[in-house]
Amino acid sequence: MSFFASVPALPDDPIFGLPALFAADPHPKKVNLGIGVYKDADGKTIVLNVVRKAEELLLKQNLDKDYLFIDGNQKYIQQSLELIFGKNCPGIESKEIYAAQTVGGTGSLRLGSEFLAQEPSRTIFISEFTWPNHKPIFLRAGLVVENYDYYDHKAHKLDFPKFCKSIQSINPGSVIMLQACCHNPTGIDPTFEQWKELSDLIKKQKIIPFFDFAYQGFSEDLEKDAKAVRYFYEQGHEMLVSYSFSKNFGLYGERVGLLAVVTHDAAVAKKVGSQVKQIIRGMYSNPPLQGARIVSTVLQSPELTKEWLEELKDMRTRVQDMRETLVANLMVGAKHHDFTFLNRQKGLFSFCGLSHEQVMHLKKEFGIYMPDNGRINVAGLNPYNMDYVVKSILSVFPSTLKT
Ligand code: LMR
Repeated sequence: MSFFASVPALPDDPIFGLPALFAADPHPKKVNLGIGVYKDADGKTIVLNVVRKAEELLLKQNLDKDYLFIDGNQKYIQQSLELIFGKNCPGIESKEIYAAQTVGGTGSLRLGSEFLAQEPSRTIFISEFTWPNHKPIFLRAGLVVENYDYYDHKAHKLDFPKFCKSIQSINPGSVIMLQACCHNPTGIDPTFEQWKELSDLIKKQKIIPFFDFAYQGFSEDLEKDAKAVRYFYEQGHEMLVSYSFSKNFGLYGERVGLLAVVTHDAAVAKKVGSQVKQIIRGMYSNPPLQGARIVSTVLQSPELTKEWLEELKDMRTRVQDMRETLVANLMVGAKHHDFTFLNRQKGLFSFCGLSHEQVMHLKKEFGIYMPDNGRINVAGLNPYNMDYVVKSILSVFPSTLKT
């Protein structure tokens, strides 16, 4: 009799469970619109040229494989903080911002929430519709998880009045999870004016903002995508930022991220750092070497940085083109249904307004894979599968087909 016989089986992960299902599906025209990974026009996961160049440079240096510090590669940390908060952010120099290299963005969210959960029964509020991994991460860390209103599913837009109202009922000392840009899964972000109002409300309510910043460069550009985080910093919030290089460097499997804890007092930041380091030491001791070395090699070279920005722009532009093409093609076939709301969405994802039944039908009948919430990875679209996806989506909205 196993010690573990009574352990209940859990369902597969709503996003990471998809590749195995997709691989096993014999459908000849199957399309994978699941995990948020950038694909090129041939449907391939690419490695950026700058990443290959950095790897070659690193190989030539014959570097050792010694342990990093508990909180990681210090040069990488400095460079990442400059990307997030801007080169001239005073808190970097003054060490009022404490930061640690993390095991990707997910590792950073977990680390940040482990730190926050040291205060017993602390609550974190997540948006109604969010990345399905947020809740399990925070629950496992020991936080209490509640929702705030965010998205109006019927109108396909941000429900800003309800969002504000939710904030006004949050208790002081609680945490609010905010997505800095390219909201996953809705693709809908607050405007800059709305961010300003949110900052005021959050401050008034004495809540700790915790930004998930995983898509810098996929909405407008590096600078514009950082505007909300930088504004909150300028407004004097104490806050956390989880950052990921998975998407903007295409370093998914290298697990390269960062956790920043913003304080406005270097002595406080030092104490925070001592806690965060102890959590890291107890979880995985210290982070992996290679991904941070790659990022750092690119960011220390003006030429490589320029090339990276061009490659990032190419990725962003292709995704935008695919979204516009999708909408234009859907509108050709749709009679009563307006899909133009999709053009308001930013980043890798589109939230098409598909019901659970429609998602199941697309999977079963057409071999089109996406998470159950109906989010599609727009980067999974290309000129070869576009018609098929459009026809399939239109077929699950039968009343919308032109007769
Ligand atoms: C996604 O949302 O598809 C990505 O962020 C990958 C992940 O870890 O779920």
